[in-house]
Amino acid sequence: MKKKILVTGGAGYIGSHTVVELFLSGYQPIIVDNMCNTSERNIIGINNLLKTTIPFHNIDCTDLDQMNIFFENHKDIHAVIHFAAYKSVGESIENPEKYYKNNIGSTEVLLKCLEKQKLKNLIFSSSCTVYGMPDKLPVNEGSPFKRAESPYGETKQKCEVLIKDNACNSVSLRYFNPIGSHDSGLIGDCSSDNASNLVPIVAEVAFGIRERLIVNGNDYDTHDGTCIRDYIHVQDLALAHVRALDYLLAKEGKYIFNVGTGNGLSVLDIVNTFEQVNNLKVNYVIGPRREGDIEKIYSDGSLIKNILGWEAMRSTKDALISAWKWQNSKML
Ligand SMILES: NC(=O)c1ccc[n+]([C@@H]2O[C@H](COP(=O)([O-])OP(=O)(O)OC[C@H]3O[C@@H](n4cnc5c(N)ncnc54)[C@H](O)[C@@H]3O)[C@@H](O)[C@H]2O)c1
Repeated sequence: MKKKILVTGGAGYIGSHTVVELFLSGYQPIIVDNMCNTSERNIIGINNLLKTTIPFHNIDCTDLDQMNIFFENHKDIHAVIHFAAYKSVGESIENPEKYYKNNIGSTEVLLKCLEKQKLKNLIFSSSCTVYGMPDKLPVNEGSPFKRAESPYGETKQKCEVLIKDNACNSVSLRYFNPIGSHDSGLIGDCSSDNASNLVPIVAEVAFGIRERLIVNGNDYDTHDGTCIRDYIHVQDLALAHVRALDYLLAKEGKYIFNVGTGNGLSVLDIVNTFEQVNNLKVNYVIGPRREGDIEKIYSDGSLIKNILGWEAMRSTKDALISAWKWQNSKML
């Protein structure tokens, strides 16, 4: 019998890729998503890709009654992977309440349901934003939480604490910067705010939907003056969830892992590589620094490699080729 795994936010960007990898690894994913920041395109894409119909329930995870009903009707779930949340740092600064309510609210509801159902296994989508402005690089899982640079970051810190204090077995995965799309071009980032991230903006500029990319600051203490991040291919990230789930189901406990490549790349490295691998030009200008931007952050990935045997397999080039493919296929 395939183990059933509830994937909240499973119609979203990272969730849809994880649903695919779960199914291919022998699990039976079940999606709960209220579609507030994605499109049916991903559901259709998942089903076409897997040549099956993945169960899907349109439920708001902050709705305790609806979630209780869902769990009462699905007594055979083995674990939950909780992606459902809002993710725009900028929007969270403009509207913090919206983020507290959805991101923390959905996690609280889920923890209540797990307790009620005596269901113990939870994997949580955390983020490197929990590290704030780090003192030391690369950051490892023992690096302290610093003041979050946004309400979004605060919600990730708060949820990690809620999960740590709860009785469930859990893995919090601290993602660095997910980029790219599935090789098939059938699923990707359908969010309405996707173009607040660098790679979708670069793809939109190359496509001609946007006039130019504004690079926020070129006077940082980095090799070309632009900010440095650790970009990870979303298919590698999805596989990290499967490895984490395998591990959690075999070995109870509470775990936290960074999920990155360990390789720091600047904004201009990404622009140049995107141009090179896709044979395109990307129009950009240098603008002022953006408030709250961290100069550089990249991960120490040794813990996840040693414990879960996971490390990133795909290159930045692969990711940027797939990002361009997604940009083209989503416009069809
Ligand atoms: N994309 C990134 O750069 C990034 C980085 C670090 C962490 N994360 C985290 O990973 C998770 C997934 O991110 P993503 O990039 O796939 O975002 P996404 O917006 O594409 O996916 C989130 C999904 O959750 C759904 N959702 C949101 N609130 C819901 C609710 N109350 N009830 C039911 N469904 C709800 C949305 O409709 C969407 O399909 C989020 O928790 C996000 O904070 C993302």
